[in-house]
Amino acid sequence: MAFVHLDVLCFYSLLICTAFSSVSSNAEIKVNPPQDFEIVDPGYLGYLSLQWQPPLFLDKFEECTIEYELKYRNIDSEDWKTIITKNLHYNDGFDLNKGVEAKIHTLLPPHCTNGSEVQSLWSEATYWKSPQGSQETKIQEMDCVYYNWQYLLCSWKPGMGVHFHISYQLFYWYDGLDHATQCPDYIKVDGQNIGCRFPHLEASDYKDFYICVNGSSDSHSIRPSYFIFQLQNIVKPLPPDYLSLTVKNSEEVNLKWSMPQGPIPAKCFIYEIEFTEDDTTWVTTTVENEIRIARISNESQQLCFLVRSKVNIYCSDDGIWSEWSDEQCWKDDIWKETLVFFLTPFAFVSLFVLLVTCLLLYKQKAVLKTIFQRKKEVFSHQDTFC
Ligand SMILES: *[C@@H]1O[C@H](CO)[C@@H](O)[C@H](O)[C@H]1NC(C)=O
Ligand SMILES: *[C@@H]1O[C@H](CO)[C@@H](O)[C@H](O)[C@H]1NC(C)=O
Ligand SMILES: *[C@@H]1O[C@H](CO)[C@@H](O)[C@H](O)[C@H]1NC(C)=O
Repeated sequence: MAFVHLDVLCFYSLLICTAFSSVSSNAEIKVNPPQDFEIVDPGYLGYLSLQWQPPLFLDKFEECTIEYELKYRNIDSEDWKTIITKNLHYNDGFDLNKGVEAKIHTLLPPHCTNGSEVQSLWSEATYWKSPQGSQETKIQEMDCVYYNWQYLLCSWKPGMGVHFHISYQLFYWYDGLDHATQCPDYIKVDGQNIGCRFPHLEASDYKDFYICVNGSSDSHSIRPSYFIFQLQNIVKPLPPDYLSLTVKNSEEVNLKWSMPQGPIPAKCFIYEIEFTEDDTTWVTTTVENEIRIARISNESQQLCFLVRSKVNIYCSDDGIWSEWSDEQCWKDDIWKETLVFFLTPFAFVSLFVLLVTCLLLYKQKAVLKTIFQRKKEVFSHQDTFC
C-alpha cells in the first residue's frame, strides 16, 4: 500500500513539475537575485545596514525600474518584516543579543514582463555577534527610567554567580550621535559600576535608543547585553502638587492640582486619583488637572484625595506612574461650629473677668499710690526735722 501511495505521489509531483516548467519556459523571463547581499554593523549597538548590488544581466530590462523585496528578522522571532524598495540599502534596529537573518530578491513589475510579476531566487545573509563569555557574566535586572522626561538613569546588577571583579561599561547610541558613546558618570558600589547617569540627551525622543553593557575582567570574557527602547516610553513624571479640595455643595466635590513642573506638556499627562470618603476609597483617572466627584453621602465627615501622574497614550506607548502626591483632606466643619458655640461664651466670660481684674488692680494701685505719697510726705517732714 505504501508503495502505491508513493507512486501516486511521484506521479502527481511529476505532473506539477512539468506544468511549472512549461509555464516558466513559456514566460521565458527570468531575473537574477541581487549581488553581494550583506549585513553591515557600523558599531551602533544594534542599528544595522542591509546592503546589496543590482543583479547581473539587467540590460534586458532597461525600460524597467526594478524593485527589491527584503525580508528580515531576529532569529527566533515569529514574523519577518517585509520592505519593498528601489534602493540598494536599508537600515533598521535589531536585538544583538540574538542573531539576525535577512533575505532579498529582485522583483520585475508586471509592465516589464507582459503581464505577470517576476521574482528572482532569494539571496540570504545572516549576522551574529560572536558570543563572548558565559551567560552568567551578563548583567541582570537592567532598569532604565527617564525621570520627568529630563534625566535618564539606568541601573543593573552584576552577573549571576560572578565572584571575580568585573569592570562593566555602558555604551549608548541614537540617531544623531556620531558614534557609540560611553557613560560619562557611573553609579558605583564598592568600586563596581552598577548604573549610569546620562548627560543631557539632545533630540533623543521618538527614536530607538540603543544600549550595550559589556565589560572586562582579568580572567574571564564578559557576555555583552543589548537593549533598545524609546525614551518617551520610560518616562516617570514628578508627582502633581498644590492639591485643593473644594466642597461645592452637599453632593459634589471639586478636586484640583497643578501639573508637575518640567518639560512635559500638559496634554501628555494622565492622572490617577485616589479619593477617600470616610471609609470608602475608589480610584479614577482623568487627563485634565481637575475633576468633579459626586459624594456618596452628604453627611460624610472626611474627604481626602491624592494624585499621581503618567505620560498618556497621546505622547507615548507606555510610561511609569509617578510617586503619589501628598494627601489633601477636608473635614466636616461641624466640630468647628461646636467649638465656636462653646468657646464664644467662654471667651466673653474670660474677657469680662480680665476687665474686672484690671479695673480692680488699677483702683488698688491708685489707693496704694496715695498711701505711698502720704508716707513720703511724712518722711520728708522727718527729713526736715533732722
Ligand atoms: C512582450 O511582448 C512583446 C510582444 O508580444 C515582445 O515583443 C516583448 O519582447 C515582450 N517583452 C518581454 C520583456 O518579454
Ligand atoms: C564594549 O562595547 C563598546 C561599543 O561597542 C566597544 O567599543 C568596546 O570595545 C567593548 N568593550 C569590550 C570590553 O568588549
Ligand atoms: C442630605 O440629603 C438628604 C436626602 O438626600 C436630605 O434630606 C438632607 O436634607 C441632606 N442634608 C444636608 C445637610 O444637606
